[in-house]
Amino acid sequence: MIEINSVLEILRWHVGIGVDEAIGDAPVDRFSLLEAPALPIQAPNPTVTRRPAVATPPPSQASDELVKAARALAAGASDVDALRSALMSFEGCGLRKTATNLVFFDGAPSAKMMMIGGAPGAQEDRQGKPFVGPSGALLDKMLASIGVQRNDVLLSNTVFWRPPGNRTPTEQEAAICLPFIQRLIELVQPEILITLGGPASKALLGESQGVGRLRGRWFSYKSAVLENPIDATVMFSPESLLKTPNQKRAAWQDLLMIREKLNV
Ligand code: URA
Repeated sequence: MIEINSVLEILRWHVGIGVDEAIGDAPVDRFSLLEAPALPIQAPNPTVTRRPAVATPPPSQASDELVKAARALAAGASDVDALRSALMSFEGCGLRKTATNLVFFDGAPSAKMMMIGGAPGAQEDRQGKPFVGPSGALLDKMLASIGVQRNDVLLSNTVFWRPPGNRTPTEQEAAICLPFIQRLIELVQPEILITLGGPASKALLGESQGVGRLRGRWFSYKSAVLENPIDATVMFSPESLLKTPNQKRAAWQDLLMIREKLNV
């Protein structure tokens, strides 16, 4: 029987090394999973032809298939409710396995402005809504400072499930979710699109420079389905502003630039 003090010690040790989330009910010894079973050493047999070791497609090929499946599913959605249902039925993104809830979007589909962040955090995962944690509170204040209410904006993310431990989504995860966010933009057709942080700017605008270099100017977001390109800009994410408050000066300039474009 383990004593309560030992349990507390183990818990403290986990917190100390940065573990802040349990992603399963039962513990898994991942070290033992890594140990490859010892193979018997066999003399080479020249009469046996080896079968190519391609039982499963390599990751890039596998994700190409998933991206194609995501594209087909997203393209078939004729409104945001259908798109949500399509996403709920989509099993292709591995992040779904460790998340509590799908976090799709918040706000009115008639919004003139869309803001796309990186990925949901712990509170977003619990509530199934984007930007409801501390960064959401900051975002609400930022919007209010230019006279925009949260309800006037449609908020979403580059991926729709929380990455474990709030890690940055992988390129593969972002690529698999991309057709859904692109379809959401096509359905909402906002006047202004704002990417918050590097992962969203890379996924939607194809820009991989740092936010510091991308912010403060307008890009054109285009798609084959959109009649007209959408004015897009890049801002520091609210998480980044919370961690690095001296970026707030630049964020304020960006908000003024957006206010001018919105004509509010
Ligand atoms: N940060 C994001 O990028 N998205 C959220 O939903 C919350 C925090």
